[in-house]
Order: sequence, then C-alpha cells, then structure tokens
Amino acid sequence: MAESPIVHIVGARPQFVKAAVVLAAAPRPERNVLVHTGQHYDASMSAVFFEELAIPAPHHHLGVGSGPHGAQTGAMLAAIEQVLLASSPGVVVVYGDTNSTVAGALAASKLGWRVAHVEAGLRSYDRSMPEEINRVVADHLADALLCPTARAVEQLAREGLTRGVTDTGDVMLDVARQQAARARELTPVGRHLAGAPTTPAPAPLDALPPEAARPGAYALATIHRAANTDDPSRLRALVSALGRLPLPVLFPVHPRTRKAMERAGIEPSPSVACVDPVGYLAFAALLEGAGLVLTDSGGVQKEAYFAGRRCITLRDRTEWPETLEGAWNTLVGDDPEALVSAVRSAAPTTAPRIDQFGDGRAAHRTAALVDALA
Ligand code: UD1
Ligand code: UDP
Repeated sequence: MAESPIVHIVGARPQFVKAAVVLAAAPRPERNVLVHTGQHYDASMSAVFFEELAIPAPHHHLGVGSGPHGAQTGAMLAAIEQVLLASSPGVVVVYGDTNSTVAGALAASKLGWRVAHVEAGLRSYDRSMPEEINRVVADHLADALLCPTARAVEQLAREGLTRGVTDTGDVMLDVARQQAARARELTPVGRHLAGAPTTPAPAPLDALPPEAARPGAYALATIHRAANTDDPSRLRALVSALGRLPLPVLFPVHPRTRKAMERAGIEPSPSVACVDPVGYLAFAALLEGAGLVLTDSGGVQKEAYFAGRRCITLRDRTEWPETLEGAWNTLVGDDPEALVSAVRSAAPTTAPRIDQFGDGRAAHRTAALVDALA
C-alpha cells in the first residue's frame, strides 16, 4: 500500500523559513507535500524565500491572497479542505501562528486527520493579538505539539495539554545557524559588512548615509503588527520616534506597513531609510551588522538574540520571554518616548545568552516525529 503523505501548510514569510529546514530534514522527502495558501504573495515576501532557502516548489498553490480575517481564513479553510480530501494525508503539519496555521489545523482536524503544530505552546497572554488566538486554537486541535522551548511545554501543561507534547528545540535556530555563513559570504551586504566594503555600499545599505553603512553604525527596524500599523496616529508616532534616535535606521518596510504609511501620509525623517523587504540572507547579514534591532516581529526578536544583537521590541508583551533575560531584549510597547530613551540608554550587554532554543537540530527531530506519525 502506498504511504500516506505528510502535508505541510505554509502561507506567510516566517512559515517559509520554518518549513525550509523541516522539509530539508525529511527522512523520506517524496512523502512530503507542500501547500502554499497564498497569504503572502509579493516576490519579496514569498518567492525570494523559496529561492534562497531551496524550498521545493509548492505542490498546491491556493492563491487565497489578502482579506479580512474571516474572509481570508474561511477561503483558506475551504481550499485546504479540497487538497486534503484529494490527498488523504497521514498527518498535516502547520507552523507558527498565522491565519494559514489556524485554517490548516481546523481543516485537518474536522476531517479527522492528525495535526502536528510546529512552534506549539507559545503564549503572549494577549488575546487582542490575532496570533494569540491562532496559536491557542492550533495547539488545542493538534495531536503532536512540537515545542521550541521548555517554557512552551510548561505553558501547554497549564492548559491541560500534555499528550503528544515534545520539546524539539526551535527550528528557527537551525535556520539561523545553517544560513549564517551564506548570509555573510554570498550576499553583497554580508560581504560589505564582513570587511570588504565597497563604495557606494550595496543595496539596501546604500539608502543609509555612507558613514552609517558599516557594522554597528545603524539600527535595523521592522514593524508589521496590526496593533502598530492599523492605528495611523500610533504608526505616525513610532515612525517619528525612529527619526529621533541617535543612529540612522534601516527600515525594510512590510507591505502592510507601507500601505498604512501611504494611506496616512506618513513621511519618515531623512535618518530613517525605508526600503523594500529583503530576502532571508540579506536580512540575516543586516541583522548581524546592526548596532541595534528595533522590531515588533516575533521571529526577529529571536534572531537578534541568536546573533547577540540588542533588541528593543515595540510591543507590551512577547511570546518569547526568554529573550528578555540579560537585557538582550526590552519591551517598550507603543510609547515613542520609551523607545527613544531605551535606545539612548542601551549599553552593550555582556550577559550570557542562555541556550534555551535547542541544539540546532530541532528540524531533524520535527521531521522524524511527523514521519513516524504519518
Ligand atoms: C501575517 C500574520 C502575522 C505574521 C506576518 C508575517 C495573520 C493574522 N498575521 O501578518 O502573524 O507575523 O504575516 O509577516 O496571519 N500584503 C501585500 N503583499 C503580500 C502580503 C501582504 O501587499 O505579499 C499586504 C496586504 O495589503 C494585506 C496586508 O499586507 O492586506 C496584511 O497581510 P496579512 O497576510 O493579512 O497579514 P500580515 O500583516 O502580513
Ligand atoms: N525577514 C526577512 N526580510 C525582512 C524582514 C524579515 O527575511 O525584510 C525574515 C526574518 O529574518 C524572519 C522572518 O522574516 O526569519 C520573520 O517574519 P515576520 O517578522 O514577518 O513575522 P513574525 O516572525 O513576526 O511572525
């Protein structure tokens, strides 16, 4: 009898990064079927990750695109259901906390198929974040809960979830380790920052003043959370605060944020260089070269921690509290004054970074577990 397939559901930028290493570690690659919901679709938000991280082309591209939560999640649910009915999977693997995650988990569990959730057990304890709702629902539907940290395992236990729970380590640490040398050596920004500077600096560093396009001389910023982008006055205050920092800011702007800035007529000050989103490798090189990281992203907080770069997080809460230890990460909420003063007082930290995210082999553990489950 033919083996039942392992169906992986992805759709948004951080999911391509996570699935890249899990798919690469699959003991039997031919069993794995990749479904792209189409939640992210710009080349800089999707195709670049498939190219750089050698992710196989999706077997199914659902082309769902953007929309309000209900319409987007509902369209994904209906389209994923069709794929699952046609493929009779042994297990459906969902990643992280986006609408693609919850749609995949719901479609599979309603059809009676097993669900594996990669990045299970994270909690910000803030239900106003759509991601919190997505991750709680996905965890409670999942049969295999694959946790990045010991804290995630404990958080699940507090909700009564103990069956099928494994601390695999964090697949994003695997990617960061696997790609660090490529980021430094293969990208023009990586080579420039690693000691082979060129004049002019390569894009997107050329958007900064020339003296800022060197290691430690700029801050790297990303903003895309609904809470920070949907309220024009809040976004205006944050972007204006970026312009009052003591160092220039390189700001690869998420399309959601670009549109919100355009709608509200927000013009950043000249010390804030707004550029298009960059690929994984260039971003890793820019992060390694940054003097400081400013973000509201979940993944970027951790990547800053992995790279030993201080991070200031434009949120009240984080689902990665491990990064707050040793002052590697500071939460400043949406208060622009708190942001400016945190940056001004940010001394380099020498606190040890505790090895809480695994050993860099989380993807192998994850791939082996889902292969055994299917
Ligand atoms: C989504 C996830 C969020 C994750 C983020 C990663 C949900 C609820 N949110 O947020 O958890 O942190 O992805 O980046 O699932 N857009 C484009 N081109 C694209 C993609 C989006 O222009 O390729 C624009 C559209 O105007 C769209 C908006 O961005 O309406 C928001 O996109 P969406 O995928 O709904 O949410 P994100 O903010 O990207
Ligand atoms: N990232 C990227 N280019 C960018 C910004 C981010 O490649 O211009 C990568 C980043 O390295 C991380 C992932 O995108 O691996 C994080 O995605 P995002 O911040 O959009 O989502 P979140 O982690 O908050 O869900």
